[in-house]
Amino acid sequence: MSQNTANYDENKVPDLILSDPFVSEKGKLIQTVSEWEKFRRPEIFRLFQDEVYGQIPKDFDKISFEVISETANPYPEIADLEEVNITVERNGKSHTMRINFFLPKTGKGPFPVILLINYLPKYPDGKLADEAFWPVPELIKKGFATASFHAETVAPDLADSFQNGMISTLYPEQIGQANGLKALGAWGWGAMRAMDYFQQHPKVDSKKSILVGHSRTGKAALWASANDPRWAFTYANESGCGGAALSKRKYGETVGAINRRFPHWFADNFQKYNEKEEQLPLDQHLLPGLIAPRAVYYSSAKGDQWADPKGEYLGIQLGSRVASEIYGKKAVFEPEFEALEGPVHLESVGYHIREGKHDLTWKDWELFLEFWDFNWKR
Ligand code: GCU
Repeated sequence: MSQNTANYDENKVPDLILSDPFVSEKGKLIQTVSEWEKFRRPEIFRLFQDEVYGQIPKDFDKISFEVISETANPYPEIADLEEVNITVERNGKSHTMRINFFLPKTGKGPFPVILLINYLPKYPDGKLADEAFWPVPELIKKGFATASFHAETVAPDLADSFQNGMISTLYPEQIGQANGLKALGAWGWGAMRAMDYFQQHPKVDSKKSILVGHSRTGKAALWASANDPRWAFTYANESGCGGAALSKRKYGETVGAINRRFPHWFADNFQKYNEKEEQLPLDQHLLPGLIAPRAVYYSSAKGDQWADPKGEYLGIQLGSRVASEIYGKKAVFEPEFEALEGPVHLESVGYHIREGKHDLTWKDWELFLEFWDFNWKR
């Protein structure tokens, strides 16, 4: 199925039978934070790990950081650029990934930090990304430190070579396991290693940290944050199928479509549900609950029907129930998707939809940063 042959007819969306976040596999009603954290969250985490994304291994022997500097800083007036090699060793082998890290020149810090997982090719003028996609000067002027790494510095984005980064070097035993580490998990692992760097950096307030991903890296950011509680905010823009959007709606991109085009992204087990979404023992509405009570924000574009904006909205609307009903946040998403008149910015959860096509734009950043301000200043 391609973007042209996908279903975009709301009347053809099947009736949704979605599992209840608050009933455990053994039928126990889950009402308190301790019941959630002890029983239900681990069950849901395991389902996502085994059936959707695959494992993200947490162990290694050593991590080291080396600030090297090769590229000219495109913003020398306002920011310092640290290019950092992060080397991780395990079982006598090592993998080095690279992050590009901008710190404000004014102010003493420690600065809140925004990490973007990038996957776009280098911009023609030598900049690391298009300035709307990663608006470094604007973020610096607002007092953030901001970093990005390219997905391929961790794992190539190709079906026949995705293992040829950190997976085969550091975690070869994952290869071939039905719930083994794949590319999305590897990119998420990269975000964790960047966080290791921030945590020891005197100018970074790593407690005020934001992990951002667009589309395929939005999916990776969500799974990374479910694995790593050090991220205070997680922002997934247009992450669509296998990210924000409900798979069982079969609207736009489907599980079969994504697994056939990108067999290296998800756990091999996810293939069992190609054209059989109704058999999934979970859906993406359970994902925000793995991040709660930390903040999670989704956004969609009206011209990005492939990512199923309504499915993304339902993912966060239903998903926010953990924040509100278990953690007591003011996080009840009231409006129906069709009645939305602007961004929904609540305590620890938020959403917006904008005009235009599939892209991470300045408008998206602006609205997300309003959500951030609302949550820190509330
Ligand atoms: C493709 C893919 C999407 C993905 C997108 C992207 O369109 O089908 O699932 O989100 O690429 O990463 O831009």
